[in-house]
Amino acid sequence: MRPHRDLLAIPDFTPAELDRLCGLAERMRSGAYAARPLAGKSLAMIFAKSSTRTRVSFEAGTFQLGGQALFLTPRDVQLGRGEPVADTARVLSRYVHGVMIRTYAHDEVEEFARHADVPVVNGLTDRQHPCQVLADVLTMRQHLGRVAGTTVAWIGDGNNMANSWVDAAASFGFTLRLACPAGYEPDPATLGRAAVAGADVRVVRDPYEAATGAHVVTTDVWASMGHEDEQEARAAAFAGFCVDAALMRAADPQAIFLHCLPAHRGEEVTADVLDGPRSRVWDEAENRLHIQKAIMAVLMGGESLA
Ligand code: CP
Ligand code: NVA
Repeated sequence: MRPHRDLLAIPDFTPAELDRLCGLAERMRSGAYAARPLAGKSLAMIFAKSSTRTRVSFEAGTFQLGGQALFLTPRDVQLGRGEPVADTARVLSRYVHGVMIRTYAHDEVEEFARHADVPVVNGLTDRQHPCQVLADVLTMRQHLGRVAGTTVAWIGDGNNMANSWVDAAASFGFTLRLACPAGYEPDPATLGRAAVAGADVRVVRDPYEAATGAHVVTTDVWASMGHEDEQEARAAAFAGFCVDAALMRAADPQAIFLHCLPAHRGEEVTADVLDGPRSRVWDEAENRLHIQKAIMAVLMGGESLA
């Protein structure tokens, strides 16, 4: 088996490596990075769920680094007809130099990675969305000029995004307050590992308690992919958790608003906040491209974080 590293969750990289990864992404964003470390290499992208940003940013990013990306869905590959995850991992490893997966069960991505001989990148599971939250941290660096010592307020569902924010709080040293209705808290194991790492993370019930004085206010849809049939029950549970202008006024006067997108204007966020002067969501979406190029250059292209 060839030695390789994966990115399935943010703690897969050390804090020092994450800092350098962000620096590399910033060099890519500024145009200072002209190398083509993926020349002659291929990335297989397996998408069991819909995607706009993840698909296009990985595909365009691979091309910009000199490589080729293959878009695969369970409808097209034998995985969808029951070929085992382990066998798929073994076979794809003979053809490509890295695999990005978006699927439901996080365990499936871990199983894939155990059997793959090439780097595996998590493009979203029900439990984690590390590439997105790394792009969000890059957006904090861009617009706040710092990450450590800031306060981030998460408003809403304790979903995959919330879990990756919990990991990020531990790795990057910021305070995280999550306002979640009862029954919609983040993953207890993820909260547990952040606590062990000494992270300043607290789950509260009141969105105002979370948002007061925060430097970043962020949210996500109330019903993630795979939970669409719970939309009605969730809309009731999340009443009062909409990020609106009043909640933004409770935050720091220079606070930025982030949302991984796609957004539902009028549900988890009002249109005036999403499209307003504090919103940085378009830069946030752009930063997916830069951080993922940096991840691929490191994992697949031999770029060093030492
Ligand atoms: N934010 C995000 O991952 O978007 P997509 O679902 O469009 O990839
Ligand atoms: N929590 C959302 C994020 C989409 C990018 C979902 O999983 O559907």
